[in-house]
Amino acid sequence: MTRDEARALDAADPLRAIRNRFHLPDGILYLDGNSLGALPKASVGRLAEVVTREWGEALIRSWNDADWIDAPQRVGAKIAALIGAKPHEVIVADSTSVNLFKLIVAAAPLTPDRPVLLSEKGNFHTDLHIASGAVEMVPGMRLETVERAEVEGAIGEDTNLLLLTHTHYKSGAKFDMAALTAKAKAAGARTIWDLSHSAGAVPLALNADGAELAIGCGYKYLNGGPGAPAFLYIAEHLQDRLISPLRGWMGHAEPFAFTDDYVPAPGIARFLAGTPPVLSLAGLEAGVDAFEGVDLDALWGKSAALFELFAALAAERCPDLTCISPAERNARGSHISFAHPHAFEICQALIARGVIGDFRAPDVVRFGLTPLYLGFEDVWRAVDIMAEIMGRETWREPRYAVRGKVT
Ligand SMILES: Cc1ncc(COP(=O)(O)O)c(C=O)c1O
Repeated sequence: MTRDEARALDAADPLRAIRNRFHLPDGILYLDGNSLGALPKASVGRLAEVVTREWGEALIRSWNDADWIDAPQRVGAKIAALIGAKPHEVIVADSTSVNLFKLIVAAAPLTPDRPVLLSEKGNFHTDLHIASGAVEMVPGMRLETVERAEVEGAIGEDTNLLLLTHTHYKSGAKFDMAALTAKAKAAGARTIWDLSHSAGAVPLALNADGAELAIGCGYKYLNGGPGAPAFLYIAEHLQDRLISPLRGWMGHAEPFAFTDDYVPAPGIARFLAGTPPVLSLAGLEAGVDAFEGVDLDALWGKSAALFELFAALAAERCPDLTCISPAERNARGSHISFAHPHAFEICQALIARGVIGDFRAPDVVRFGLTPLYLGFEDVWRAVDIMAEIMGRETWREPRYAVRGKVT
């Protein structure tokens, strides 16, 4: 495909106008929206309003007058619409790590005769770290991890919880949510889905797929801003059977009754712990509002097409890179990853040329294909620059081997 042909695809793209909702800096091709989403233009005004008017002028009255207090539920309901859940099945709180801890410790005791929390080796490490600590809170529980290909076969009568990341952070490989949830259910186990690399780009139908528990990040494809709070999903039928181990006052049935005894709030609100982070929630709400009017099927179709263009151009022009993401549409998420022994240096050389992707140790360079704001010409240009870097081996310059704190 030529650059002009890529441009023509952009011109015909029904989602093209959505790009204008984002601030995309000049000279930058931003292929890292699966790590930190780009800034929605509306966030700037919204955050300024919350700070200057709601906080600055109205002060504490804004908990009621600006409805700060209901932001976790309100933003949760908007996220629910993106993931195929009912509005009252999602709440925004804490970080993905903390929400995972709450769900494991709350859900595991429902089936006390089952001792195993099963997960995938090489799952995102925070999930495994949190799981390793959470099982210590539940008498008799242990964490077991198996290779990806063995996950399905490892579900058995001792499985209590199956913890899986829907789209793998490194390879982009996607699990079949409906099939694995059904398999776990048939064996008497429950599944917790980490949707961090799916929500906002990859089709999700939590209710239709029978999902019962899920968590996910707010700062990736949901564009909530750095460190945006996370979301947590509990299927309606389970909500009143689970009690969060973090029994904060915001999850109490009557937080402002100031009583000594803990009475969990009805529904998912019991999974709140402390005071909601109002400024961060405002950023996340603006990020989620950027999806307004977007046809989610069209969004996924565009993601898949961006991937296919990237994969084809890279195969032709960067033959030293090995694509490790699945070629099959239904088996992958919205990023494309390549293995190379010098992936770190290649990534740094790309960043120096304005192509921002990221590196995942030990040898992967990864590109997020955010269909909300990326275009076909962006992909064409990114691969063009990558081909030049690879062809001339400019990545060998010593400055590209220098590591920062965050790599
Ligand atoms: C799959 C997955 N889960 C969890 C996290 C981290 O979540 P948090 O920092 O919000 O706890 C990430 C971050 O990249 C992730 O990719």
